Amino acid sequence: MKYYSLKNESVIVTFGEALLAGLAPDGGLWMPRGLPQFTPRETARLGAMCFADCAACLARFFVDTPFTDADLKRICHDAYDYPVPMRTFDGYHLDSATPEVAGAFVLELFHGPTLAFKDFAARFMARSASRLMQNSDETRTILVATSGDTGGAIGEAFLNQAGIEVYILFPQGGVSKVQRQQLTTIGNGLSNVHALSVAGTFDDCQQMVKDAFADDRLMKKHKLMSANSINVGRVVPQSFYYFWTSLQAKAAYVERDIVYAVPSGNLGNLTGGLMAWKMGAPIDHFVIGNNINDPFVEYLNTGKYRPRDAVPTLSNAMDIGRPNNFPRIMELFDGNFEALKKVCWGASFPDEETERHLRRIHTETGYVMCPHTAVGHLAMEAFKAEFGETFTGITVGTAHPAKFADRVEPILGQDIPMPNTLKNTVDRTPCFVEIAPDLDDLAEILAS
Ligand SMILES: Cc1ncc(COP(=O)(O)O)c(C=O)c1O
Repeated sequence: MKYYSLKNESVIVTFGEALLAGLAPDGGLWMPRGLPQFTPRETARLGAMCFADCAACLARFFVDTPFTDADLKRICHDAYDYPVPMRTFDGYHLDSATPEVAGAFVLELFHGPTLAFKDFAARFMARSASRLMQNSDETRTILVATSGDTGGAIGEAFLNQAGIEVYILFPQGGVSKVQRQQLTTIGNGLSNVHALSVAGTFDDCQQMVKDAFADDRLMKKHKLMSANSINVGRVVPQSFYYFWTSLQAKAAYVERDIVYAVPSGNLGNLTGGLMAWKMGAPIDHFVIGNNINDPFVEYLNTGKYRPRDAVPTLSNAMDIGRPNNFPRIMELFDGNFEALKKVCWGASFPDEETERHLRRIHTETGYVMCPHTAVGHLAMEAFKAEFGETFTGITVGTAHPAKFADRVEPILGQDIPMPNTLKNTVDRTPCFVEIAPDLDDLAEILAS
């Protein structure tokens, strides 16, 4: 597979070059040139595989030399050594659910090591980068700005990978308590992963990373690499779980349409879903849930795209006013708004509604969602109210609620049990460096 720059289609690179460079030299996002198209017979074969094998087969089409089939199998089995369940609020799994509950599943993408969907992309990306750098004495420096989940997933995925230093920039006071503990204890301060607490907002962190990438001297000196969802290596693996889970859902409920609800911010997750749909996955609609930072939902409803400054909400990882992946989505539809509207539908919700929804679902079923997943589920319910219940609805569960315990527990009035992976981090001593939102400070840290 070759990748082209969205700013100039004649700028073309390999998967390895796109992954390691992050952005095209002209500042454009990399885009895969020509997605694979699968026939129903081929998709049936892929659906019969386990998730890791299916991911390895799909990955074959997105990479090139030096990846062998055996490399991809090893990478995917090593990266995806945790379950990918679809379950109802009352605990039925897809294969045991009765037709009456066929309408309401949560795809829990939070059973990886950092309990968020970002693990799927970060772990594939890290293992691919490490394969590309094998036998070379090159070194790279990853800079990643995080509003909470990305930093932990990237840090965990790249921990102890030879030749790669990772710097995670997080906003002081802008991440949940659990996220902060996760971010600042990776490798216990003695590894290649370094946490930087920035005295500013997530936007400041993102701006510092952008400024560093625009600084030729820093780029050359440190061979900077991006790990945010502007990197196409983050977006491609997010198509794998849509592809595989839609085949499972279709096999279980052949007669019904398949609809995914995607809680969205930078639109990286949705881009992965739309790529799977374009490759022939049996998905009929995507329902987009935004919080009040809703430029994409507004676009779907009005045809007008108005990027803007973000405001803080309960679902903080979706506080994005200028979604990075909007140009990729436009490209997937050749800029055709009507074609996009046939596949995507959206709704946005203020925090009061999200809080009410978290409480209601918990009271009625006992199920606890993270605030992001709740926004997605609200959008799914709005879609059902408008179009009826004749489809299999799959709400994408993007993070474990325990990651947001400090926000969700007061809403529910009860404690959320902590999974073992989180328990392991609570007693560790946080290790981080405080810096001002200033490029010179960052340059000094990188040099030291
Ligand atoms: C828990 C959670 N939900 C949803 C999202 C939104 O995903 P995307 O930015 O790909 O739209 C994020 C992104 O950071 C997240 O961490």
